[in-house]
Amino acid sequence: MNYNDFFAREIAALKDEGNYREFAELERRRGAFPSATCHNGPADVTIWCSNDYLGMGQHPKVLEAMHTALDRSGAGAGGTRNISGTTHDHVVLEAELADLHGKEAALLFTSGYVSNWAALGTLASRIPGCVVLSDALNHASMIEGIRHSKAQKVIWRHNDLADLEAKLKALPANAPKLIAFESVYSMDGDIAPIKEICDLADRYGAMTYLDEVHAVGLYGPRGGGIAEREGLMDRLTVIEGTLGKAFGVVGGYIAASAELCDFVRSFASGFIFTTALPPCVAAGAAASIQHLKTSLAERSAQQDRVATVRRRLEAIGLPHIDNPSHIIPVMVGDPVKCKFISDTLLKEHGIYIQPINYPTVPKGTERLRITPSPVHSAADIDTLIDALEDLWTRCQLARRPMAAQ
Ligand SMILES: Cc1ncc(COP(=O)(O)O)c(C=O)c1O
Repeated sequence: MNYNDFFAREIAALKDEGNYREFAELERRRGAFPSATCHNGPADVTIWCSNDYLGMGQHPKVLEAMHTALDRSGAGAGGTRNISGTTHDHVVLEAELADLHGKEAALLFTSGYVSNWAALGTLASRIPGCVVLSDALNHASMIEGIRHSKAQKVIWRHNDLADLEAKLKALPANAPKLIAFESVYSMDGDIAPIKEICDLADRYGAMTYLDEVHAVGLYGPRGGGIAEREGLMDRLTVIEGTLGKAFGVVGGYIAASAELCDFVRSFASGFIFTTALPPCVAAGAAASIQHLKTSLAERSAQQDRVATVRRRLEAIGLPHIDNPSHIIPVMVGDPVKCKFISDTLLKEHGIYIQPINYPTVPKGTERLRITPSPVHSAADIDTLIDALEDLWTRCQLARRPMAAQ
């Protein structure tokens, strides 16, 4: 076999379908984010699609904690958690996370993806006869973890309580069950009915596994996520989160009972057989979490910017999904136009918004996913809205009836 020919053919097919991904090569500017230098596009860009939702990736407390830990402990952890890689910074961060979610314990992983893959994979494979009930729109990391476990999987319609109940009812009453779902779904920005799902879990004797990756830091009085905001943290068996989005660093975790965390720590290959996060990363994440536990400024400024962008989109009739979260999906509904708008925003206006096309979202629902943050200014919003208005006209895309101004 000519291996390179094979790779090239597969890539050519992706390009033909319009699904080939190209990177914008960015250099974020500390103290000036969302401004960045783009090394393969216009020199000055404003990022409008970052998951550094609160700008914590440049917060002075986070940077100071990272610099201090780097100078104190050096670069890497030097090993897996079991073999010399557990540092004081990891232990402090796990305590911080357990406290954030009101749980007995927390366990760190190298990313949110790995935490889902390893925790779901381990729980579902090691609990004899475990059946996983997985929301149809769960993230790839959850799907992969469940698949890897080889446990029986039952997919329930997205956020559909009646369907979940029917599927729970159809299973043997004594079978161990795990309901896996997210709080804020990242592509539509909709939110799961967590309380009602917990009620069903109680009724049918199921555990609950909630991915709060797009909610931690952003919702709840201390940034514990939607479950904290709704007073539900104690009803969830496992809360999973990331340190790479609102907390602005990198890493993932689960928070749960001491026994469950110890079980995953002891059996999950994705935890055991990989080098621990660098101590400075753990220190930066802990500083970010500590700050957001008491500071409301970032959350309220973000909510203000989100409301402003939504209002301005309404005013010019641009179709976007009305959801109760900070994610604004502006619907284009055509992959070629979506890519054209994204390319032109970058080239002509220095605005970077990655197009979201199939397979990330279903065909016909191609979109621009906008994530306003506290560090976007009023002038940034004006530039964004003017540019979108111009491109909507150029692409002859439909508009909603305009809202009264
Ligand atoms: C719902 C969800 N879970 C998990 C992850 C993975 O998190 P991380 O980026 O920390 O690997 C993502 C990433 O975007 C996500 O959207």
